[in-house]
Amino acid sequence: MNILITPVVRTPDNIDLETHQATRDWSDRTALAITRGLRFLADTFFAKRYGNRAIVLETVAAVPGLVGAALVHLRCLRWMRDDAGWIRTLMEEAENERMHLMAFIEIARPNWLERALVLVAQAAFFTFFLLLYVFSARTAHRLVGYFEEQAVISYTQYLAEIDAGRVDNVPAPRIAMEYWRLPLGARLREVIVAVRADEAGHRDVNHGFADTLRPAERLRQQRIG
Ligand SMILES: [Fe+2]
Ligand SMILES: [Fe+2]
Repeated sequence: MNILITPVVRTPDNIDLETHQATRDWSDRTALAITRGLRFLADTFFAKRYGNRAIVLETVAAVPGLVGAALVHLRCLRWMRDDAGWIRTLMEEAENERMHLMAFIEIARPNWLERALVLVAQAAFFTFFLLLYVFSARTAHRLVGYFEEQAVISYTQYLAEIDAGRVDNVPAPRIAMEYWRLPLGARLREVIVAVRADEAGHRDVNHGFADTLRPAERLRQQRIG
């Protein structure tokens, strides 16, 4: 962990919507298989209820950054090493995901089943992700990278529903206006475009972290540095 990764600042206009990281080894394939399994479950459970889907999935999305930051922090203490900016980047990701949740909770209302799902999902996902990160931080970051690829796709589909008139393009909540500094009169569409840009940023950062942790990359870094 000796490369400083500077997060790319994504604006809604310069994001790459199509990026897909090809799998290169068992770690990537495991991450992709888990992502596809969870995508299938989410599609089955939520179908086109994108607002409710966003609320439940954002409660999960805010977990990895916190877990990663805590474990990197502890590792840096144990080995008395610098974190190369990873902790702050991961904590910013966690906070950003929590702000997505705060924005969508103003737009959709979860039912009792979804609220129960959030409780179970947090317990299960936190435990799973913690163990995964301890076992293979590289797989954990790749998993988040693939999750975020799916998040970009889901928010693009959400936008298509608005554009087709099947979802009301309601006024943007105040919290979203302030957080993303949206112009006066901004609506749900602008909020989703901003959220999607954040997800694309997390996607690229986490794939970058996973690349850094690949044994071949690490060896190359050690030779260079
Ligand atoms: Fe998010
Ligand atoms: Fe995300």
